[in-house]
Amino acid sequence: MKKGFIDVVVGLQWGDEGKGKNIDELLSHGAYSGVARFQGGANAGHTLKLGDRTFVGHIVPSGCFQKGIELYVGNGVVVDAISLIKEISELKSLGFNVTPRLYISNRAKLVSYLHIFLDQADEYRRKKLGTQIGTTSRGIGPTYSDVRARRVLLVGDVLSPDFTKKEAILSKFHMNLLKMYKKEYGFEIPEQKIKEARTKWLEALKELKKLKICDVSFSIQKRLREGKNILAEGAQAVMLDVDFGDYPNVTSSNTLPANVCLGLGVPHTALKNIYGVIKAYTTKVGSGSFPSRMKDDKIEKLFRDAGNEFGATTGRPRMCGWLDLFALRYAIGLSGANKIFINKADICLSDKIKVVTGYKQNKKTLKEFPLYLNQVTDVVTENMPGWGYANYGVKSKRKVSKELTSYLNYIQKKLSDLNVKIVSVGTGPDRDQFFNWDN
Ligand code: GDP
Ligand code: IMO
Ligand code: MG
Repeated sequence: MKKGFIDVVVGLQWGDEGKGKNIDELLSHGAYSGVARFQGGANAGHTLKLGDRTFVGHIVPSGCFQKGIELYVGNGVVVDAISLIKEISELKSLGFNVTPRLYISNRAKLVSYLHIFLDQADEYRRKKLGTQIGTTSRGIGPTYSDVRARRVLLVGDVLSPDFTKKEAILSKFHMNLLKMYKKEYGFEIPEQKIKEARTKWLEALKELKKLKICDVSFSIQKRLREGKNILAEGAQAVMLDVDFGDYPNVTSSNTLPANVCLGLGVPHTALKNIYGVIKAYTTKVGSGSFPSRMKDDKIEKLFRDAGNEFGATTGRPRMCGWLDLFALRYAIGLSGANKIFINKADICLSDKIKVVTGYKQNKKTLKEFPLYLNQVTDVVTENMPGWGYANYGVKSKRKVSKELTSYLNYIQKKLSDLNVKIVSVGTGPDRDQFFNWDN
């Protein structure tokens, strides 16, 4: 019997590694019939570039620029209907009508307008305690909390006559929570703002109803039986996983490939390659410790400006750090990544660069990844020569500068005891700006 498989793309750092671009490129060779989001929500911002057209996908999977590719939003995703409808209309104006090939799981979870306010309310509470996470304010935490508490609305509910009743019960519960945030912490949203948000949300739900809401698990399993392959699109990254990231400075979903099975409704035997995506350096947005952060502000600014390191979802400046091999080895172990994409190898704005190879806690070098990253008091680094802009747009291995070549050989060597290979290296934001690396 013919049988298809699922390959997975996940970030191995703190997000924004360039997953969207890599997914777009992987899909362009005809090996996959569809691409599926399995977790997260509109906190994701995946940038696609095609000539002069740029699109940032928050809910719509990164196959939207490829006309034959089916786009699935799995049951593990928390769906912000307002964002989804906006993305669909943005894509239309770019010349891509995605609705005929977009499938939303009836079991996906619905982000409500009040989840967004609750996200802001809890950040306000945390700020007072000095423990702010710096969320994307997309309602992710409160929605996943409601999933676990078994009171969330499912996307399939919008088609049911019971929707109004269920929504009223949940909204009442949320309004009571907001009252608590007002009473206990002084956080208040003006009534008019809530009313406006509700109207906008209900309008988006009307549009959502017109989309293909179905059993995505069934649809994907059918494709696999037909011998077709699917690409699973990770959002966020391993270091933001709710179980294995730097808790509580994480997102609220499991970002690891293990969650593909639960977030799409497919067996683990369907999984094949795990593509892990990294940058040649590291970035992070939001709060929490970031051990490999560049200590020299001027150098960090150079990387930030050259790499345009501002959040695709929130516009916030990203912190920049050196490549962190200690965290990378942890992420490879957890994800089982067997192939690695390295992006942003064109950005290296320093003559001398560093690589973090270990963490220290009070002068003691750690063997295991620490429970909390704020336990890391120092890092072990190794120095390498930088390469400036020398590799911008390089598409052939023969044209790669000697500094970047030795950097890539160095990384591969440092990972030689793990079953993983660097397969391609990005040298610009366009999907064809990369070279294959098959040492
Ligand atoms: P994602 O969330 O992992 O999909 O990544 P984002 O889209 O949030 O951020 C990656 C940013 O880097 C986007 O602006 C991309 O256009 C850009 N990008 C991706 N790969 C490269 C690369 O190799 N070089 C450069 N200069 N930019 C890249
Ligand atoms: P992509 O898919 C980078 C970060 C937020 C915050 C923490 C929790 O584009 O790589 P949340 O809104 O999820 O409750 O925020 O996680 N975060 C991301 N950082 N890239 C992302 O997605 C992110 N999604 C969430 O900045 O620190
Ligand atoms: Mg992003």
